[in-house]
Amino acid sequence: MSDVQLHPVQDAWKERALIDKAQYDEMYKRSIDDPEGFWKEHMQRLDWIKEPTRIKAVNFEYPDISIKWFEDGELNVSANCIDRHLKDKGEQTAIIWEADSPDDEAQHISYQQLHAHVCKFANVLKEMGVSKGDRVVIYLPMIPQAAYAMLACARIGAVHSIVFAGFSPDALADRINDCDAKVLITADHAPRGGKKTPLKANADKALKKCGDDVKCLTVKRVGDDVDMQDGRDFWLHEMEETVGNDCDPVAMNAEDPLFILYTSGSTGKPKGVVHTSGGYLVWTSMTHELVFDYHPGDIYWCGADIGWVTGHSYIVYGPLANGATTLMFEGVPTYPDASRFWKVIEKHKVNQFYTAPTAIRALMGKGDSFVEGHDLSSLKVLGTVGEPINPEAWEWYFHKIGKGKTPIVDTWWQTETGGHLITPLPGATDLKPGSATNPFFGVKPVMLEAESGKVIEATEAEGVLAIADSWPGQMRTVYGDHERFANTYFQQYQGYYFSGDGARRDADGYYWITGRVDDVINVSGHRMGTAEVESALVSHPKVSEAAVVGYPHDVKGQGIYCYVTLMAGEEPSEELRNELRNHVREEIGPIASPDLIQFAPGLPKTRSGKIMRRILRKIAEDQYDSLGDTSTLAEPEVVDDLIVNHKDLK
Ligand code: WTA
Repeated sequence: MSDVQLHPVQDAWKERALIDKAQYDEMYKRSIDDPEGFWKEHMQRLDWIKEPTRIKAVNFEYPDISIKWFEDGELNVSANCIDRHLKDKGEQTAIIWEADSPDDEAQHISYQQLHAHVCKFANVLKEMGVSKGDRVVIYLPMIPQAAYAMLACARIGAVHSIVFAGFSPDALADRINDCDAKVLITADHAPRGGKKTPLKANADKALKKCGDDVKCLTVKRVGDDVDMQDGRDFWLHEMEETVGNDCDPVAMNAEDPLFILYTSGSTGKPKGVVHTSGGYLVWTSMTHELVFDYHPGDIYWCGADIGWVTGHSYIVYGPLANGATTLMFEGVPTYPDASRFWKVIEKHKVNQFYTAPTAIRALMGKGDSFVEGHDLSSLKVLGTVGEPINPEAWEWYFHKIGKGKTPIVDTWWQTETGGHLITPLPGATDLKPGSATNPFFGVKPVMLEAESGKVIEATEAEGVLAIADSWPGQMRTVYGDHERFANTYFQQYQGYYFSGDGARRDADGYYWITGRVDDVINVSGHRMGTAEVESALVSHPKVSEAAVVGYPHDVKGQGIYCYVTLMAGEEPSEELRNELRNHVREEIGPIASPDLIQFAPGLPKTRSGKIMRRILRKIAEDQYDSLGDTSTLAEPEVVDDLIVNHKDLK
């Protein structure tokens, strides 16, 4: 992109950085030429109970997909994130917790205290009958207990599955049932942006749809009254009084699952992405250190929620494995006003700050006055994740927040990849706003022709993005459905992991992610399967058919656009629009709330009855001239109606 300004590595970044350009080139080459040797060396960043001798065992050939790293090794993830730091860093702050309200005092939890909390929590889980291999669902606000719960599971070998606190009771119940969880951990309420979400009441609703044997452990966050059912419900603070202080970490095989995280795909129900212990921790700790150029003593802040993979890898596991100080924020960027992020950075002297382009765009839109007057001089590295960042937002972040002195790492990765795959390194990579730049060590990106699947050898290329070989942080399977794993990621382009993203590679070999090429949309950096929203809409009694697509949205990146056909006899109205919007919020959660609902008497279908989403996408994007061939439609005239109604809607 010629209109994008190049930002070369500055001398100050190079001086401080752990990796410079020459080192990057040398290490990258070695990681590709000799993965076994490379990872045998870098797995040493962890403490192993039994050191692995077998490094990599991977088959990417469909349908027998099998991915194993460090497979005869043993370790405990919580011991790596806590116990091994106690000797030198016991007094150092592990977690800084900043509450939703700026009036609440921040908490500083040292590694010693973290150890005590996690051991207690683990003993409570054991007391509730949880043992190695059992699943535990976590439905919590952004409070320290969320990290304790994750690490407590890891300590005793239980597999956690976090459900974002913004998901509805129905979505929660689906996930509890899919992974057959033994215990659900929740809180009385979740404060966020000055409002409260009744988490325990949501949990009660969800549990009505789950087996009678699922127990519920509740953290007292706000102190409000909640219903407690005898024999099923337990308070964390009461249980903690009944258990001991010590809990030895159990030895886990490197390939034992660490967690399941549900994520949206192009079809069907959300998939339970499974990550295992050894490879995931090597990957998250190494990327956290090198991508954020983390040095001992730095204060690091990732503004994501632990309900998403970014929170797993870059609030909890990566930073704590590195003995870092990680900041956990309960609130939102705009409460009490749009200066909150900058106030928190100033207050805690944050050195690395990591957030989503949608937040940057929203704050940029509020005006610079919210930034001015805050001392942001502690910042050394800024990061973004979740969606492509437009150059305007990049430049604003760079100049207004970083004062032109800090690199921005635009990190491309996915729930499935465990951690960063394509990203700049602060001391090594000249930056181009909007490009995720170059692959991390061990990552072999390839550009494929979308239709034929042929590898595009030329440096300059446009196509779909796939990865030619495994890396330690890769997901291993879909929980309970390995066939779905193989079919989703390895069938269409055989021999490769297919990311679902389109991309461009420029003459310098830099990667530019252009967005999803499947029926997944990216709303404010959150993944949403259009099929999920459609099935929520058609579950409403007045809806006969629905088709959902993404459309460009100034702040959210993409908005949710719904075409809805009503049952015969039902009349479109503003009231019904609101009713449908609320219905989707209840079925999935507020994050799936439709932005635009267009009532469509007919949808464009092929003669065999298949909805032609391509046409719906183009209309939603106002691109009436590029609808393509509509002659194969059963009723070509519906398209004209759709366009007229679309123009009225906007
Ligand atoms: C998108 C979030 C452009 C992409 C970590 C991917 C990005 C999906 C970037 C994964 C980026 C993530 N630039 N697009 N830096 N990072 N994406 O699973 O479409 O919630 O496939 O993981 O987000 O979303 P997920």
